[in-house]
Amino acid sequence: MKVVGFVGSPRKGGNTDTLVEQVLAGAADADHQTEKIYLADYALTPIDPVYGEEANWTDPRQGVADQLIDKIVAADAVVIGTPVYWFSVSGLLKLFIDRWALYQRSGQRLRDLTSGKKLVVVAAMADNDTDYLKAVLAPLHYTAKWLKMQWAGEVIATGVSDPGDVEQRPDLLADARAIGQSL
Ligand SMILES: Cc1cc2nc3c(=O)[nH]c(=O)nc-3n(C[C@H](O)[C@H](O)[C@H](O)COP(=O)(O)O)c2cc1C
Repeated sequence: MKVVGFVGSPRKGGNTDTLVEQVLAGAADADHQTEKIYLADYALTPIDPVYGEEANWTDPRQGVADQLIDKIVAADAVVIGTPVYWFSVSGLLKLFIDRWALYQRSGQRLRDLTSGKKLVVVAAMADNDTDYLKAVLAPLHYTAKWLKMQWAGEVIATGVSDPGDVEQRPDLLADARAIGQSL
């Protein structure tokens, strides 16, 4: 089984990165093939779609995202990691997800190609107060539903601010690894 993880924080070695890494390490324990992708390494730009017939939606700058979305299509399970920024997912992750709307291969759109794939969500946030967490995760839940993906778990690190904070939280690291092992 192939598992691809996307780090939606610009901070390499930060809390999101560490947790995505743990999920992938768990998947590797279970003998799955893993790959980690830093979205920050790619020149993702805001979507600028040319509307018309949905089948003809296009944007000349879609190519960078498409090469990453190909990895989702090739995978059996996907890990999406984001820091919480302004009570929401990161802009970097949103740039990527917006581009999922334009993906097409041989006339098939992404949602024709993602049915049954597993999705794990990782989020890191400084607050301990999680009253808005549901709102942060809601777009990802709806996205999974739209893509007919299976929600395979979530790891939410609250109270982590600086890089390395999550490494002091063995409970969360173990949760992340266990989710990876369960894929
Ligand atoms: C632009 C920005 C906005 C943030 N907004 C929030 C927020 O709304 N709630 C929160 O709990 N933490 C917020 N944080 C803190 C980060 O979520 C926190 O530092 C997290 O651990 C960063 O993850 P990383 O190490 O993977 O980058 C914000 C940080 C930045 C830079």
